[in-house]
Amino acid sequence: MTEDARGRVGVEIIGSGMHLPEGTLTNQDLEQLMETSDAWIVKRTGINTRRRADLASGETSSVLATEAMKKALVNAKIEATELDLLLVATMTCDSPTPSVGCVVAHEIGCRDIGAMDINAACSGFLYTISIADAMIKSGAYKTIGVIGVDTITRHIDYSDFGRGAAILFGDGAAAVVLQASDDPEKGMIAHAMHADGGGAKHLFIPSCALDFPEEVEFDERKLNTVQMNGQAVFKFAVTKFQEVISETLEMAGIEADDVDHFVCHQANSRILDSARDRFGIPEEKLLVNIQKYGNTVGGSIPIVYDELMSSGKIKPGQKMMFLAFGAGLTWGSSLWQL
Ligand code: ACO
Repeated sequence: MTEDARGRVGVEIIGSGMHLPEGTLTNQDLEQLMETSDAWIVKRTGINTRRRADLASGETSSVLATEAMKKALVNAKIEATELDLLLVATMTCDSPTPSVGCVVAHEIGCRDIGAMDINAACSGFLYTISIADAMIKSGAYKTIGVIGVDTITRHIDYSDFGRGAAILFGDGAAAVVLQASDDPEKGMIAHAMHADGGGAKHLFIPSCALDFPEEVEFDERKLNTVQMNGQAVFKFAVTKFQEVISETLEMAGIEADDVDHFVCHQANSRILDSARDRFGIPEEKLLVNIQKYGNTVGGSIPIVYDELMSSGKIKPGQKMMFLAFGAGLTWGSSLWQL
């Protein structure tokens, strides 16, 4: 790898892989657990089924992440020892410490490189590839592994009381390998990372009474499970999704038509439809796979990327916009020249 005359390097995504739990949770399964219906779920969210990790048999975030990274390394045709840094986007590490990053780096046989987790909920993978791109362009690192993983179903209440959030989520992991490139035009060309902690009250997981926002009354049944004001999150997502697309197109000085792939966080098919309608994005430029996996939080965006990659739809020279929003509240974009 060489720098250009101005000392610039580019960044290339040289491989990807995904790993999903075997266990499924269909809408029909949910009908047995709570007062809901397949028709209601499909109409409101577009989801048919989702994967659920079997925590009891040790299917944790680090296990899913390890398998995803192994596949990404095979796809990239490099060894784990060639990674200079490992970053993991997750909000469901197996325990407060060690991080998923440390566990995966050990499991796949990295050198004693830096490894860490970054928590921006559903925006985590998007934040993390943007950070990784900047770290490679700074010259400090050449090859970085980036994983998006969550086993969020451990925080779901599958009863009538928790049904508002229960229908949405699934577990999964996917990974990419980023590497410095001789072509300085390649890599991230614009990005936005946003957060509004004031909106945290609409989407949170309380582990004790102190974690309840002022507006929400303490209720023991809510502990350690996803608490969501669905309508507030829906409104936030539709608005910010569209705003951040406009902001990113403006930063890059391009039109929506110039983008070949919109790789979007899969939270609700209606949220994706609203962005498609607003910017006139044709179906083939915005892959929707929520019907198969639900919202896999940090895994969502790299799973879409890996599916696009393995179906041969991604070509060098194309432009790709990663887009996400989630708990925090967080939202953002990362526009790449491939
Ligand atoms: N099955 C059947 N009925 C249900 C269910 C269910 N699973 N859940 C709620 N209902 C009922 C409600 O009780 C309510 O009944 P009522 O009118 O008698 O009171 C009715 O359905 C409508 O409820 P709403 O909450 O208003 O339904 P809405 O149309 O808003 O859809 C949904 C709910 C699908 C959750 C939607 O609000 C949504 O998708 N919001 C965005 C959520 C999201 O994207 N979250 C992830 C963010 S990413 C992250 O970082 C985690």
